[in-house]
Order: sequence, then C-alpha cells, then structure tokens
Amino acid sequence: MGKIILTGDRPTGRLHVGHYVGSLRRRVELQNSGEFDRIFIMIADAQALTDNADNPQKVRENIIEVALDYLAAGLDPEKCTIFIQSQIPELTELTFYYMNLVTVARLHRNPTVKNEIAMRGFEESIPAGFFTYPVSQTSDITAFKATTVPVGEDQLPMIEQAREIVRRFNMTYGEVLVEPEAVIPDNETCKRLPGTDGKAKMSKSLGNCIYLADSAEEVKAKVMNMYTDPNHIKVTDPGTVEGNAVFTYLDAFCKPEHFPKYLPDYENLDALKDHYRRGGLGDVKIKRFLCAVLEEELAPIRARRAELQKQIPEILEMLRKGSIEAQKTAAATLAEVKAAMRINYFDDDTWVKEQAGKYQA
Ligand code: TRP
Repeated sequence: MGKIILTGDRPTGRLHVGHYVGSLRRRVELQNSGEFDRIFIMIADAQALTDNADNPQKVRENIIEVALDYLAAGLDPEKCTIFIQSQIPELTELTFYYMNLVTVARLHRNPTVKNEIAMRGFEESIPAGFFTYPVSQTSDITAFKATTVPVGEDQLPMIEQAREIVRRFNMTYGEVLVEPEAVIPDNETCKRLPGTDGKAKMSKSLGNCIYLADSAEEVKAKVMNMYTDPNHIKVTDPGTVEGNAVFTYLDAFCKPEHFPKYLPDYENLDALKDHYRRGGLGDVKIKRFLCAVLEEELAPIRARRAELQKQIPEILEMLRKGSIEAQKTAAATLAEVKAAMRINYFDDDTWVKEQAGKYQA
C-alpha cells in the first residue's frame, strides 16, 4: 500500500513562522520528495468552528488567507489536493460512528484538549463539539487512509488518539482503517517556536507573531523589538542565550552559509553564542543578522503571495475542485466503513433476503 499524507490547519488567522517551521516547511519538502502517492491538505474550517461558533465570519475570511499562505510557502496544487473540511459531509458521518469507540474519560485525558480548554477558560462550559474534536480529526485522517500526518508537536496527542480509534475500529469491525504516523520537526527549536516576546508559543491572541504575509518592514520592526536577555544591558555585559528569543529564532532559521554572507566575523552560530555569553556583543547586531536570515526565507514567500493575491478567483476554484476530489476519496472510505459495520443495508440484496427469510417457515 502506498504512502498518503493528510494534514491541515484551522483557518482562524494567517499562518505565522511558528506554523512554517513547525510543519508547513516540512510538508513542502515531503511534497517535493516524490515519496507520496497522494497528498491531502485540509483547511479545517469545521474544526475552527468548534470554538468559534459565534464567529463564522472570521473562519470564512481566513480560508483564503490560509490558502494563500499554503501556496506561497510552496504547496503545489499539481502535487496535492487542497480542500475545505466542511465541504466533505462524509467526515461528519464518520465522526458520528467513531464517537462510539472512544470514552468521555479518554477525551478528558487528551493533553492537547486539556491545555486548550484551560487556555480558552472554558471550564464547565466546553462546547461538546470542541471536546470531541479529536474524534473528528480522526475522521479527517482516516477518511483518506493517511499513513503520514505532518503536524506540529502539539498535535501528537491527536494522532495517538486517532491510532487508538483506528485499532478499536479494526478490532471490532475488521481491518478497514489505516493507523497513521505523525511527522514532527527534528529540530527541537522548530517544535515550539516562542513568540517574539520570548513567551509561550506564537499565538495571534498574544500579539507575538511574525506572519508569513508580513512586509519586510513589519518583520524588521518585530525583530528589533524582540525579547532578548533582560540582564544584558550594556554591550560589554555577559549575555544569556537560553530563553533568548533572538537566539531561539536563529536556532530555527540560521544555516551555515548565512555566516560568510551576513556575518563573516563569526564562523558559525556556536561562535556567535560564545561571544554573546562572554560579553561584548550587542543585541542590535544579532537582531540585524536575524533579520537578514529571516528575509532569505521569507522574501520569496512574500513575493509569491503578492502574485497569488492577484489570482483569488483561480485559487477559490482550485479549492472547489480540490474539495470535489477529496470527497470522492472520503466517500469510498465511508462506504467501506459502513460495509464493515454492516449498516450498508441497500448496497445489495443480502440484507433484504436475510430479513425476509427470518419469517419464512
Ligand atoms: N488540529 C489541527 C490544528 O489545530 C488542524 C487539523 C484538523 C488537522 N484536522 C487535522 C491536522 C487532521 C492534521 C490532521 O492545526
């Protein structure tokens, strides 16, 4: 059996560099590796609605933003099927059946859900749809028989939950579903890029994001304001690299070839860090370097986005076609699922004969 990718994002805002190093960059690499038979990239609007029920307009507006970010980052509709979750009713139907294969206690233990419930202050007023979104995410993955799910590290509990539901399904009804595997970044820093304030992770509500769509000036202003080491006051003071957002970003973005190009006085990142620790290296210098490093990665993405923004109707058409394509695959899986569960009553005359036979003497 071939290798299939399914992954996606909630359209609640534009994608930022945390999304990029956490998963998007890897997806583009996997896409271009030629190792995959099918690649499905889903804009998870239905999942976004599980905690934005009162704000469908936000979700609606951001579908195109996420699509633009995808294409600008290098996802290619010739190589992958990009689609919108809500347009595939089969996903909802699968979710309804999978709900029976998971307990409320297990959902309560899902660390991602737990964390998100705390972050959103839901406490006792958790929307049932939000609470059960790991089950819906299992439908997203299994409907396409995905073997491989490139995601950010925070999504690992979702994949684990999906694997459990798959095993439970296959044990109960027969081998139909495929157990997926997550692919997360190898680079520790990329797993959880902090915000520009050095805190937590990048999140729109904290206002600490660098977006893929930001202009060069915006990126520069954000970098120049970045959190460093609060005790590194004078250039001569020794500085701390750990927890210093500028160095964290360099860990995520910097490549050896950046040094001869932008900072030839240093051999590599370790040499730069050593100098900072010793003292005598100012924040402005490392921030300028980070700007140059980021620009190298972001400038081509930004330029592609500017071009793509002139082709909105074509991109929406691509999403429409992608959704039709995706639905075909999901429908085929749903048919198999229903057959395995023996609720495919009218597929042929088996059930009709069986039932009629019951009352024949
Ligand atoms: N939960 C993911 C996020 O918040 C989005 C998502 C929905 C997803 N369904 C998925 C990711 C299936 C991978 C596979 O970004």
